[in-house]
Amino acid sequence: MARLLVTGGAGFIGSNFVHHVIAHTDHHVTVLDKLTYAGNRASLDGLPEDRFAFVQGDIADATLVDGLFADADAVVHYAAESHNDNSLDNPRPFLDTNIIGTYTLLEAARKHGRRFHHISTDEVYGDLELDDPQRFTESTPYNPSSPYSSTKAGSDLLVRAWVRSFGVQATISNCSNNYGPYQHVEKFIPRQITNVIRGIRPKLYGAGENVRDWIHADDHSSAVLTILDKGEIGETYLIGADGEKNNKDVVELILQAMGQPKDAYDHVTDRAGHDLRYAIDSTKLRAELGWQPTYQDFEAGLAATIDWYRENESWWAPAKDATEAFYASKGQ
Ligand code: NAD
Ligand code: DAU
Repeated sequence: MARLLVTGGAGFIGSNFVHHVIAHTDHHVTVLDKLTYAGNRASLDGLPEDRFAFVQGDIADATLVDGLFADADAVVHYAAESHNDNSLDNPRPFLDTNIIGTYTLLEAARKHGRRFHHISTDEVYGDLELDDPQRFTESTPYNPSSPYSSTKAGSDLLVRAWVRSFGVQATISNCSNNYGPYQHVEKFIPRQITNVIRGIRPKLYGAGENVRDWIHADDHSSAVLTILDKGEIGETYLIGADGEKNNKDVVELILQAMGQPKDAYDHVTDRAGHDLRYAIDSTKLRAELGWQPTYQDFEAGLAATIDWYRENESWWAPAKDATEAFYASKGQ
């Protein structure tokens, strides 16, 4: 049994990871989460008290972090400002959390000699042309586009420097777009599902040709556990499930699955600097560590996600109006 400290565990992917760890291992989990607008304590309801603890606080609070690292065997770092549209509106919190927060954790990992796994994104690699036969690999040069992705790229480079300069026992993973339960309604898939539930037409940025490489959050969790268990210190692993789809196709699938005409959506103002396509080659993770995704059928995973939002309106409703007001102010 290990004691895991999970930062950002009240967010979308972090909470999915905590549920996965409790279900599939005997580890004890302590979550450190600031409960920003994106964090939701209810995402962690129902976990066994003898295996789970919650601490509300900031990853940039060095004193708090020092005490929590002292009591942990390993740390999995999900906490971040995560939404591109917000980073275009107000970049500052992205620097505070993604850069200074990660730096604070790395200093604690260095002092206490703790195993550290850093969760990152495929967006650090920039974007691909629609017809590019190459996909992102671990050796693709960094080329981030947005304030969000540039701060994630900066945090990755800090981790690499702390491994090389100070011998921190860290690994990094860069994953593609996640979907599943507990995702904030600001993000593409839950925004459109909850729009349909509310009788609002889905909103597609620009022409909707942009491609994302979808993976179920539970598959992301199993990949991270695999890397924690078998990953080589200092290495980076790309996580993806061969799920490329353009946004227009995803909106049409949501509408069809929810019994609506497939053209019942609106085109809205495009995102500034909108990355065209992400695509992950996860050969290294699969070949070296033996990981495989479980969710191979996107439409089935999407249908289960739609059911979850239908059944959990009390979880997402408090954030819906403010989120739509923010988008409306930008013509989106
Ligand atoms: P999210 O926005 O849903 O959750 C982020 C969590 O971090 C929230 O609970 C929030 O309260 C917490 N947090 C924010 N600032 C904090 C701070 N200073 N101190 C402590 N807690 C803080 O994000 P997500 O979509 O779950 O993403 C989690 C991680 O996964 C991020 O590092 C993100 O870059 C990465 N990632 C996300 C995706 C995706 O598709 N969503 C894909 C690849 C990688
Ligand atoms: O690739 C991994 C990244 O995926 C993570 O690092 C980020 O944290 C996560 O937010 C996600 O970033 P994206 O910007 O790709 O996700 P988002 O859900 O914001 O948008 C997905 C696509 O859908 C993107 O091309 C923009 C488009 N979009 C988004 C919204 C909110 C729309 O067309 N309409 C919308 O209403």
